[in-house]
Amino acid sequence: MMDRTASAPAATPAARDLSGPDPRPSAGLLARYRKLVFLAWFLTLDLIMFGAFVRLTDSGLGCPDWPGCYGHFSPLGAGEHIRAALEAMPYGPVSAFKAWIEMIHRYAGAFLGLMIIAIALCAWRLRRLPDRSPALAGCVLVMVCVQGAFGAWTVTHRLMPLVVTTHLVLGMGLLALMTWLAAREKAHAPVPADPGAGRAWMILGLAVLFLQVALGGWVSTNYAALACMDFPTCHGAWLPPMDFREGYALLRGLGQLSSGELISQDALTAIHWTHRNFAFLVIALLGVLAWRWRRTPGLAGPARLLLALLALQLLTGLTTIFFQWPLLIAVMHNGGAAGLVLVGVTLLWRLSRAGKPARPGRETHEPPHDRKPPKAA
Ligand code: HEM
Repeated sequence: MMDRTASAPAATPAARDLSGPDPRPSAGLLARYRKLVFLAWFLTLDLIMFGAFVRLTDSGLGCPDWPGCYGHFSPLGAGEHIRAALEAMPYGPVSAFKAWIEMIHRYAGAFLGLMIIAIALCAWRLRRLPDRSPALAGCVLVMVCVQGAFGAWTVTHRLMPLVVTTHLVLGMGLLALMTWLAAREKAHAPVPADPGAGRAWMILGLAVLFLQVALGGWVSTNYAALACMDFPTCHGAWLPPMDFREGYALLRGLGQLSSGELISQDALTAIHWTHRNFAFLVIALLGVLAWRWRRTPGLAGPARLLLALLALQLLTGLTTIFFQWPLLIAVMHNGGAAGLVLVGVTLLWRLSRAGKPARPGRETHEPPHDRKPPKAA
């Protein structure tokens, strides 16, 4: 049998000095890392949309404790408690269906956490390959832990709007980091040298997008989706009566003011009005950028997708209002926002490579010593 190590090129003296016998990771490890990154990226997107489904089906308190369900690993063991809660409050926050929805979201979140631990470990082992700092994978790991903590506080703080909105925004932040991690692994056409400070504009675009996501989260976590039922006016006026001070008071329970009174209609109108009108600034800014790059090599694909997603976001936002908040459309509106984050970050990554030679993707990143030796004649 052929000895593969004998045919491999010798390690350079510098490499040997750095880390003993053979510091170079295997191509298998790199392939596993890439698979994990793409899978975790996909799961993050799904989890964000499933989170919207949890909230829209009112399942957030389907298991009112944490991390288990009435102290059990699954709702199967909590049947007695769930039945008792249902008897006490037939239309309350607890039912077997809601408990399962809530627990599936928690299992998927825990699974994503495990995948990200594995990604961070692989990234550490791959750290000696060029351009492969494990710092970003480390940030993703910290972010998923913080996100898990906000998931727990969502339950223990009884769906406090500030906590639930932060949970949503952090979820989008996690998706942004995962997108950057995945974009590093994907080859793309070289982008010409950045004309007109495109990178700075895209950073601004992502900042306003995140602000819009936070405003949207504030609408949904305060249940203000139907506070204005007409469009483009609201209650028949361009500037309806609104109470911004109450609407944007951050430290209060669900449906309450900080004084403990019920939240007013004017406060809900302010919350809804701000989100729908700020949307036009977001759509205009991102729309102009995407239009400008729709034919630029290396940017054209994501730029066109961005244009399509902006149109879809406007459509699902309007449909939510006109058709009185259908579940599927509301989940799609959430998914559309996640799609905008994903495409926006992809554009930023590519702009950050503008004017540089195409970054090696799958094809050329294999460590040379692990390529198969040539077949013997
Ligand atoms: C770039 C544009 C937009 C973005 C990025 C965006 C983003 C979001 C996000 C992230 C949410 C929270 C979803 C959730 O918690 O599951 C939301 C909620 C909402 N948005 Fe938008 N939105 C945009 C435009 C619009 C427009 C134009 C309208 C209406 C004219 C609209 C109406 C709504 C409504 C009614 C909700 C509450 C839905 C619910 O409670 O499930 N949005 N938006």
